[in-house]
Amino acid sequence: MGPKASQPAPVIVDQLIRCKAAHSVQELRQSVARIKNDLPASADELNGTSDYLLSELTQIAEALTLERGLYYVERLIRSMSEVRTSAINDINLNRWKEYDDILTDSLWVLDRRDSSGVHTAGYWGNFVPQIPRQMMSRYTRRGEWVLDTFAGSGTTLIEGQRLGRNTIGIELQPRMVAHANRLIASEVNSYEVTTDTVNGDSATADLRSILRRYGTETVQLVIMHPPYLDIIRFSDDPRDLSNADSVETFLEMIGRTVDNVATVLDRGRYLVLVIGDKYAKGDWIPLGFQTMTEVTKRGFSLKSIIVKNFEDTTGKRNQKELWRYRALVGGFYIFKHEYIFLFRKE
Ligand SMILES: C[S@@+](CC[C@H](N)C(=O)[O-])C[C@H]1O[C@@H](n2cnc3c(N)ncnc32)[C@H](O)[C@@H]1O
Repeated sequence: MGPKASQPAPVIVDQLIRCKAAHSVQELRQSVARIKNDLPASADELNGTSDYLLSELTQIAEALTLERGLYYVERLIRSMSEVRTSAINDINLNRWKEYDDILTDSLWVLDRRDSSGVHTAGYWGNFVPQIPRQMMSRYTRRGEWVLDTFAGSGTTLIEGQRLGRNTIGIELQPRMVAHANRLIASEVNSYEVTTDTVNGDSATADLRSILRRYGTETVQLVIMHPPYLDIIRFSDDPRDLSNADSVETFLEMIGRTVDNVATVLDRGRYLVLVIGDKYAKGDWIPLGFQTMTEVTKRGFSLKSIIVKNFEDTTGKRNQKELWRYRALVGGFYIFKHEYIFLFRKE
């Protein structure tokens, strides 16, 4: 993700520093042409930064004035030799152009789920790994702590381990706890982080005691991917949000979960809520926005609403025609999106 290495390329930095002695824009262009000629042929020797470097060098060479060109030189020297990050992630802002894998738009159309390593689409109702990956990359630093209150098959935990974040999941169904922990154990743990799923009810679990077991008291990011009410019934447990008998009960249960996580999330850090809407007796129930409102009642400010497509699964594809016919007959629209709500604890 982002630059392959934050190591400066010392030779190029030296060459750029020498460029600053140019007395004219022509002289500057000649120096840049020499740097381009000297660039190692392989991207590996440049720590994978060749595209970025080439575009920056071109920008310098195309500058119309010496002053502008030297400004670009200075900026490139800084980006090659200094790391500048914000307090909540490891993104090197001096090399922001290299993070083309980080999404910043509010509409996410993802063609397919990441099924690398132990990720599978096997658990009905799991989210695509891209969601926790994007969120952890933007809102946590390496070595920080993430809590997933509805861990399911452990998608967040697998991504957390890959990205070097300590990740704790809470899950109501013991069989899913065992399943998630099995997957995590078979995934490489290069950063030697703590990753575990614990059995419990997120609304009532003593989160601080759970976290203490692992050597922390608070987390820096919370990810919540609750059932979308009864769209999928996950278990027979009455504490399971998919068994709420009405929207009101569901909102009350989710509210208690938010109150509970607020006790362990650091102030100024983020909570991510992934949820979709549903139909009931032919009416569209805006469950996403109703749940969003419950969160904002509890000391969180809304920072973004991302709309994400539902990718076609094989099962859905077979039923597509039938649903399209039903939609035309019934005068309704077929769900193709869900929401990723982003909040900050104030
Ligand atoms: C939408 S799924 C989450 C899927 C997960 N993001 C993944 O990728 O596998 C919701 C999960 O919440 C669990 N759940 C429901 N009520 C719960 C509660 N009160 N506390 C903890 N987990 C709960 C369900 O068993 C289910 O596994």
